[in-house]
Amino acid sequence: MTGSVKHLLIVYHTKTGHTLELISACVRGASDPLIEGVELRVLRAADAGPDDLLWANGLILGTPENFGYMSGALKDFLDRTYYEVEGHLSPLPYAVVISAGNDGSGALRAIRRIANGYPLIEVQEPVIAQGDVTAAHLEAATEIGMALAAGLEAGIY
Ligand SMILES: Cc1cc2nc3c(=O)[nH]c(=O)nc-3n(C[C@H](O)[C@H](O)[C@H](O)COP(=O)(O)O)c2cc1C
Repeated sequence: MTGSVKHLLIVYHTKTGHTLELISACVRGASDPLIEGVELRVLRAADAGPDDLLWANGLILGTPENFGYMSGALKDFLDRTYYEVEGHLSPLPYAVVISAGNDGSGALRAIRRIANGYPLIEVQEPVIAQGDVTAAHLEAATEIGMALAAGLEAGIY
């Protein structure tokens, strides 16, 4: 462990469970026993607020694509927290996992656009699971969780 405990916040919405599968894989990766000194906080978007963002050193966002956009619940989380954290947030390293019926690009574009202003810095390639969540999607999501946590622990982010 190098230095103090780092905080990884995971905020997601899911309606039918696919995004939660991806998020659970992120959590598994971030909980790798080789990574010490990183505390996780995993919250549904409706339950997350500005204090959680101010606590965080890194962030993973998970959402289904709904109507070509992120879910309303994740957007609401960003809406509810933007002014509250403005000026108090060091740029947060973040990554995204998305579950989509057949696309996902609209949700990703919307998140990236808002992240620019937040500010959030995307540090891992997103995972977009189109259709069924496959073993490959879960592996990639696990790697996202591990990379964020390991990067925070190592002081890379
Ligand atoms: C209201 C609604 C809108 C949706 N819009 C899209 C969409 O624009 N593009 C897409 O690829 N899938 C769309 N889907 C499919 C979901 O993204 C997909 O079922 C996803 O796996 C749901 O994730 P969840 O199980 O985490 O809720 C939509 C589903 C719902 C319920």
